[in-house]
Amino acid sequence: MIHHANPHANVAQVLDNLDAIRVLDPHGMLDLTERFPDQCRDALQISRDFLAAQGAPARPSSIIITGLGGSAIGGDLVRALVEIGGDVPVIVNRDYRLPGFAGPNTLVIASSYSGNTEETVSAYEHARDLGCPRICITSGGELARHAARDGVPCCIVPGGRPPRASTGYLFIPTLAVVAASVDLGAQCGLNAVDASLGHLDELAAEWRRENPVSDNPAKELAVALHGRIPIFYGAQGWTSVLALRWKGQFNENAKVHAFANALPEQNHNEILGWTRASQQSSIWSVVYLRDPQETEDQPRIARRIAVLQAVIASSAEQHEVWAAGDSLMERLLGTLYYGDFVSVYAALLAGVDPTDIAGIDLLKGEMANLNGNGR
Ligand code: F6R
Repeated sequence: MIHHANPHANVAQVLDNLDAIRVLDPHGMLDLTERFPDQCRDALQISRDFLAAQGAPARPSSIIITGLGGSAIGGDLVRALVEIGGDVPVIVNRDYRLPGFAGPNTLVIASSYSGNTEETVSAYEHARDLGCPRICITSGGELARHAARDGVPCCIVPGGRPPRASTGYLFIPTLAVVAASVDLGAQCGLNAVDASLGHLDELAAEWRRENPVSDNPAKELAVALHGRIPIFYGAQGWTSVLALRWKGQFNENAKVHAFANALPEQNHNEILGWTRASQQSSIWSVVYLRDPQETEDQPRIARRIAVLQAVIASSAEQHEVWAAGDSLMERLLGTLYYGDFVSVYAALLAGVDPTDIAGIDLLKGEMANLNGNGR
């Protein structure tokens, strides 16, 4: 971590005040975050039961995971894992329609926690029109009804949570379905998730509310990012997916603008934004999501980060988050989990309810008042 003096020492006190946290987080986002390892345990069981009941899907020539927001990011992670260990192309679709290549050999996984996201329901219908084999992952809603109508396998997960606090219930069944139809290799499959649960328990104990700022890296980073505009950088692959996840969590939980990008692409355009960044704002903070394996797997990326840090040095505070864990899956899930905690603590520091998503609800409501499904 590149350290800077912390100007928010007083603000930080709220994070060690358990009564204040209860008031600031009336709908229990922190509680859901603390219980993420148990959600993953439950999701593993649900996924295994689902596969046992449905059997493995036939091997497709391509896979499309379609969803939005919190229901898409698990798909992005699965895509990144397939790129490491698998031999079938996977794309994540965030639109009303599927891309033109979709057809009878394309497995379409429709992922919507609520089951009522119009883009996802529309993409499901498009997949049906195109004759794609389909699987749905949802807690219910229209998507579950469409699946029942069509006799399409549907993995039903427990409802009642915000989708972004249901990543275990969305990522793990998606991985289960993909791993059942494509050979992913041991480090990327369900057993790797299973083997990571103890690690997640340890992280939950380290980052939970009872651990004070002085001994809690999640609170510490939230304090460092308080009042600033965070920009998350990862490397092409799973750390860049997590950069997007951290950005989304800061947007939705802390209600702030946040940005994400991936190296090496960042080095070919966005790097020039730093030329005049200090004239635009003095509150940039860059967070690099790094994997200790990168020095071995992507040595030129490590070098690029070093050069980029020198370019940015005078314009922003910079932090490094190093993924911790023995296996790829531990590092991936642990870094995902870290961002969830940091963003919830960032919301509490800002005095905003992390669960509230009034702007998203308003937009969904307005769209629901229109006729048609957008295709
Ligand atoms: C809300 C959230 C959103 C939703 C998105 C799609 O917590 O994370 O990004 O995930 O609006 O809704 P669902 O997940 O119900 O399909």
